[in-house]
Amino acid sequence: PDAITVQELANRMAEKGSDLVKALFKMGMPVTINQTIDQDTAELLVTEFGHNIQRVSESDVDIQVDTVEEAEDKLQPRPPVVTIMGHVDHGKTSLLDALRGTDVVRGEAGGITQHIGAYQVTLKDKSKITFLDTPGHEAFTEMRARGANVTDIVVLVVAANDGLMPQTIEAINHTKAAGVPMIVAINKVDLDSANPQRVRERLLEHEVVVEEMGGDVQNVEVSALKKMGLDALIEKIQLQAELLELRANPDREAEGTVIEAKLDKGRGPVATILVNRGTLKVGDVFVVGAESGKIRALVDDKGRQIKEAGPAMPVEILGLSGVPMAGDPLQVVENEARAREVAEYRAGVIQNKRTTNAPASLESMFSALK
Ligand code: GTP
Ligand code: MG
Repeated sequence: PDAITVQELANRMAEKGSDLVKALFKMGMPVTINQTIDQDTAELLVTEFGHNIQRVSESDVDIQVDTVEEAEDKLQPRPPVVTIMGHVDHGKTSLLDALRGTDVVRGEAGGITQHIGAYQVTLKDKSKITFLDTPGHEAFTEMRARGANVTDIVVLVVAANDGLMPQTIEAINHTKAAGVPMIVAINKVDLDSANPQRVRERLLEHEVVVEEMGGDVQNVEVSALKKMGLDALIEKIQLQAELLELRANPDREAEGTVIEAKLDKGRGPVATILVNRGTLKVGDVFVVGAESGKIRALVDDKGRQIKEAGPAMPVEILGLSGVPMAGDPLQVVENEARAREVAEYRAGVIQNKRTTNAPASLESMFSALK
């Protein structure tokens, strides 16, 4: 019953997913990156790659199979994670501001989003939606290249006056490559020059067929500025989320993914983590990428200190040994000695890879994973 996807195993081994697929193929198992393999096969692969991980894995969170599949009865519904993508200035941040009732855009240098914003919106019915606001699509690509597919749904923002632009098309391609369902938000419909029908038509050229054009991609006309169409957008996100039946076990040690991380002048290394499963708590000891630490504080998207964060919640963590990388997995472990051991081991693996392999560009990593 225990299984792990090839991708997840690759992440845990700090190897390229495509290399694992190749090795499996040679072993007579043609599987794709998102397919699961059983524990025996996983162990075989680990040995095949000559990793000392075998030694570490006996008691290690790295390959522990219990981190993989949850008992059905422990799973509970979790909020969807929605990534907002689209061309520069088409209104991604404005749309999020409108949905959250905030004004992030005005605080941004030149109105350009420089870092990923991760927010959770609580709706009237108390359900929640997690939103990631990305500066361009690089962040999405980078995370995907590193095997972290945190996004459940993409909202593609297209300004109705501008229409499809290069980054719109890139966003479409990335979304398709990731196999993530998309909802098109046609924004700025308050403008006289807005032509939403033209957007729907142009989308056809990129095989995005919205409902009005006989397809099954949801779309909605909105104005972030005039706060029009927001309820309809929320409804469509909820509808899409329902189809996905998103669930996670909140009652276990947390696993998460680094959304972004930096060295803060006053606070030291900080990272925004999206909790994938379990509940992250103040005092938890963890490993994240090649770093480790103990949660000193958890800060939510409104800057409030909180005691714990459950599945699909974005949260800033303090108490890191250093700055991890976007896409790094976070795992809570039993004690600090263990955390250091795993982190040091991983740092060794990463160091090793850096000296033996020519550094892979993001784009090549991206294509390697397709
Ligand atoms: P980047 O982060 O730079 O990629 O931009 P963005 O997509 O986040 O766009 P942003 O929300 O910063 O909006 C860009 C500009 O469009 C701002 O001047 C907004 O005020 C304006 N804008 C956003 N939504 C609307 C809208 O619905 N109608 C009109 N008329 N203007 C809008
Ligand atoms: Mg923005």
